[in-house]
Amino acid sequence: MTQTPAAPADIIAPSRQPANQAMRTTAASSAGAYVASSMTKCVASNRSVSCSSSVPLTPSYRSRSLEPSIECPTQRPGPGDGRPVASTAGCSGERRIARPSASARTNSSVAGAQCHEYAPATTSTASPISRTSGGWSWGGMASDCSNGSGQTGRSALRRIVIRWWPPRRTLDAARRRIMKLPAHGSTVDDVMARLRSMQGKDADYHSAKTWGLIYNAGPDVDEMLHAAANHVLAENALNPFAFPSLRQMQGDVVDVAANLLHGGDDVGGTMTSGGTESIFMAVKTARDRMREEKGIRHGRIIIPRTAHPAFIKAAHLLDLEWVHMPLGDDLRTHAAPLAEMITDNTVLAVGSAPNYPFGMVDPIPDMAAIASAAGVPFHVDACLGGFMLPFLERLGHPVPPWDFRVPGVSSISADVHKYGYAIKGASVILHRPKANVRHQIFMFNDWPGGLYGTLAFLGTKPAPPIAACWSVLQFLGEDGYLRLAKDTLEATRKLIQGVRAIDGIHVWGEPDMTVTAIGSHTQDIFAIGDVMNERGWHFDRQEQPNALHLMASPRHNDVIDEFLDDLRFAVAHHAEKSTKAATYGDDVSAEAAAT
Ligand SMILES: Cc1ncc(COP(=O)(O)O)c(C=O)c1O
Repeated sequence: MTQTPAAPADIIAPSRQPANQAMRTTAASSAGAYVASSMTKCVASNRSVSCSSSVPLTPSYRSRSLEPSIECPTQRPGPGDGRPVASTAGCSGERRIARPSASARTNSSVAGAQCHEYAPATTSTASPISRTSGGWSWGGMASDCSNGSGQTGRSALRRIVIRWWPPRRTLDAARRRIMKLPAHGSTVDDVMARLRSMQGKDADYHSAKTWGLIYNAGPDVDEMLHAAANHVLAENALNPFAFPSLRQMQGDVVDVAANLLHGGDDVGGTMTSGGTESIFMAVKTARDRMREEKGIRHGRIIIPRTAHPAFIKAAHLLDLEWVHMPLGDDLRTHAAPLAEMITDNTVLAVGSAPNYPFGMVDPIPDMAAIASAAGVPFHVDACLGGFMLPFLERLGHPVPPWDFRVPGVSSISADVHKYGYAIKGASVILHRPKANVRHQIFMFNDWPGGLYGTLAFLGTKPAPPIAACWSVLQFLGEDGYLRLAKDTLEATRKLIQGVRAIDGIHVWGEPDMTVTAIGSHTQDIFAIGDVMNERGWHFDRQEQPNALHLMASPRHNDVIDEFLDDLRFAVAHHAEKSTKAATYGDDVSAEAAAT
């Protein structure tokens, strides 16, 4: 195992935690890589899924991962040796690693063979869903083990979501009556009164009680954002010839980002609607570039286990395989496995700066060097760090190398709607060399409407995020961002010190930035989270290992003492077990129920 690196400056470095201890007791093993591509068949009953495959199977590349997965792969070229490989995240009813039997490897119709790494390859493997310490264990569920159509596995996933996703119960209760278009209009005051009355249960970000979703920089920044967004409310950036100012603003935002990230003259890019679109564009660019340069038709991307699921979504939409890199017991991604994992069809390798779950920056120089030596593009996902790390570095905080100063980095995504404090809908994707931007372009003219061209995914493109983004950069300037970075770092430092002073809880890993995951070896951290929720605090929950996920904002300085008081109370007075799960993203249960 790779040595745990030295902790960064003690301003945010927590005490070193025996991460591996809890990792072994949580729902999933941390190490392991797996691939998803083509599918096999799974049949779902109420609480179980059994998978079958008609393809010969061999062990996956270091496949030890037992976590739930949306995709359930069957067959792909093996790591460099051309053998087909079957692997999935958790296809067993038991949380143990079993070597595949000879029959599992060769039998052409072994029920459950898909799951050969984890279960006896004899008969169908029922995988009960069970609840583990504080989180839902999907019992090694292969939740989308479909073939190309994806129906069988996906409906299994739907049933699971409908039945088990706790937020659905909460949301449904608060959610919808059937609304019809009112027969008559109302006044602005009436409508606004109704709108406000619907917000009673919304997360309270005005008083800085949210530790995610909102990056709260204070009322002066809010005023700037409102003014700029309102000013261009109706405009549409689809057509820059109609609104050249929007084109200019987007170009300025890209220039500012490229400069902050030490891009130099050969870096160029575009604004997008957010991290997911920026990541999609990075993956598409790599796919099309490798198709052009190396003739790769069926590409693969390699991503750390802690990378954002937007990469998997992009791979899914762009018909690419994806493979997870193993995660060290120190909760870090290590570069060395990348060298073994790159195959002839690899079109992109990825690192995060920092990753969402633990706020840690991946070893970008080593990973980029390995990728570049193999002629593989390397993307840095700095959606979280792009507008925070540059200022932390200027403040003298130790920041591992991650931007365009690192040779081999070919693209970077950086969200201005996170620590750039723009309104939602503002991100940047940058490419080196800038000529690669052409792979983002879509053009079509064989219809009566004339040439339709877009630089990224959206067609009609709202102007408010563009204008607000451009304006907040002007409004804050370098000194404003430095002030906010200092405040956010201060809040993070107090948070981490406060957590370290409370018996029974700790910070997972060694955050390089202002993102913190709080866990416990002895108590149900989600039950502690329940008490915090009751006291009005809002944050995400994550698993593998279970944690409360806190992203600090400058305004948290105002409430950090209150937060820590409540946390001390919650640690001392919580139920034994929580009934809530770790979820992230939209209420997909409603969609699942409807189909
Ligand atoms: C590291 C990282 N990458 C990508 C994303 C996706 O960004 P978005 O939600 O703007 O699509 C996030 C979101 O939190 C993130 O933290």
